[in-house]
Amino acid sequence: MIISNIILYVYLIILIILLFFLLYIIFATFSAAPYVPTSKKQIMKMLEMIDKPKTSTVLELGSGDGRIVVALAKQGFNTIGIEINPLLCLWSKILIKKNKLKNAKIINANFWDYNLKDIDILTMYFIPHRMKKLAKKIKKEMKPGSLIVSNAFKLADWTIDRQNGTVYVYIV
Ligand SMILES: C[S@@+](CC[C@H](N)C(=O)[O-])C[C@H]1O[C@@H](n2cnc3c(N)ncnc32)[C@H](O)[C@@H]1O
Repeated sequence: MIISNIILYVYLIILIILLFFLLYIIFATFSAAPYVPTSKKQIMKMLEMIDKPKTSTVLELGSGDGRIVVALAKQGFNTIGIEINPLLCLWSKILIKKNKLKNAKIINANFWDYNLKDIDILTMYFIPHRMKKLAKKIKKEMKPGSLIVSNAFKLADWTIDRQNGTVYVYIV
């Protein structure tokens, strides 16, 4: 009787943990920018626009499945991907391991809580209605001369330094 009660409690605890994990994933997926991957062609365009030394630290905002983090790390950049969705983080970590990249890492966190003071290059494919808030954060935290490479969306009220199709480059 006691043993069957203990087993029941263990099952209940596991069920509650799984439920919380599921709710967290649902929240992370739907509360933030939706996951839409960047095409290979567009990634090539983004890479072409980076004219900083390979010793630079790059942060990929909302790194999705890690494809841009991997592409940047393959170029030799010290690359960090920040992604709010834990499943995409897991997938990215597998991709990084598969490619044996020591200069790439993924952080499962909310980008808004991450300080950009040590970042030389910020790459992103974000959401239009957050670009104003993002522009303010960049201005406040990033060093002058840092590079912003944005796929598809423009930074509110900022002057574009150069452009390749719908890839926009800004200098802080
Ligand atoms: C349009 S997708 C781009 C994915 C990837 N960068 C690419 O280009 O293939 C935007 C990504 O940002 C992530 N995201 C949205 N808001 C975020 C936040 N506040 N912190 C971290 N990641 C976030 C989403 O989960 C999603 O994976």
